[in-house]
Amino acid sequence: MKRLFNIGLLLVSASLAVGCFTKDDRNYQYFPNMYESVGYEAYGSYETFENTQEAQLPVEGTIPRGWKPYGFENSNDGYQNAKANLSNPLPYTEDNVNKGKELYTIYCAICHGDKGDGKGTLAQREKILGIPAYNDAGRAITEGSVYHVMFYGINTMGSYASQTSEEERWQINHYVMDLKAKLNGQPQRDFVSENEIAEVELETIDNHSQHEDEASVNEEHESLHTESEEQSHEVN
Ligand code: HEC
Repeated sequence: MKRLFNIGLLLVSASLAVGCFTKDDRNYQYFPNMYESVGYEAYGSYETFENTQEAQLPVEGTIPRGWKPYGFENSNDGYQNAKANLSNPLPYTEDNVNKGKELYTIYCAICHGDKGDGKGTLAQREKILGIPAYNDAGRAITEGSVYHVMFYGINTMGSYASQTSEEERWQINHYVMDLKAKLNGQPQRDFVSENEIAEVELETIDNHSQHEDEASVNEEHESLHTESEEQSHEVN
């Protein structure tokens, strides 16, 4: 009889325990803080953090994914250096130039004009003054100087570093150099074909290390240069 009672008790308690389980409800949680972590409000103030501020700055030296540092300073020297030494790493393909034209029309034409003559809508309405034509002899813009002013801006012209990616700036760059040539009455350059691209890329590796040599007097860069020279010999 006692045995039967024990079995009965076991069955009842087992069914009670299982009875608590339903697929639709949250189940009993043992140590719930393992499931439910403490949430902090964005910009909230909490003792846990060093300056009690939830919104922490990224660790020093952090760079966004895909972002590469730009090696020229935002100064007159930096401008001159970029103007003389920096050149467009993108091949002059029809695709790149068309993309450049599209972006130019979005970002630059409102001031610089579709032809790059400095007579965009805002210039005509006298909203912004002193916009130069791209073939202004005094400015003698180069691929490097155009990139530099897109990156940092210049006087009343703002920076385009946050609106455009590095690749997009170089695509616009090709188109700006086209406009300059056109204003000067020069013929358009021939597009680089797909098979030529590989060669161009090799040259740019060489060019880049040369520029770094000039930009900083550093022996490490010497070896970089010779390394890439060796590489190109190997491939040739
Ligand atoms: C809001 C009007 C405005 C827009 C938009 C604008 N610019 Fe300019 N840009 C100017 C002005 C003004 C100057 C002359 C600045 C100065 O030197 O005083 C200038 C100068 C320049 C120069 C000559 C800089 C030099 O080396 O002397 C270049 C190249 C240039 N812009 C390219 C661009 C490109 C490319 C874009 C689009 C990504 C662009 N600009 C968008 C107003 C504008």
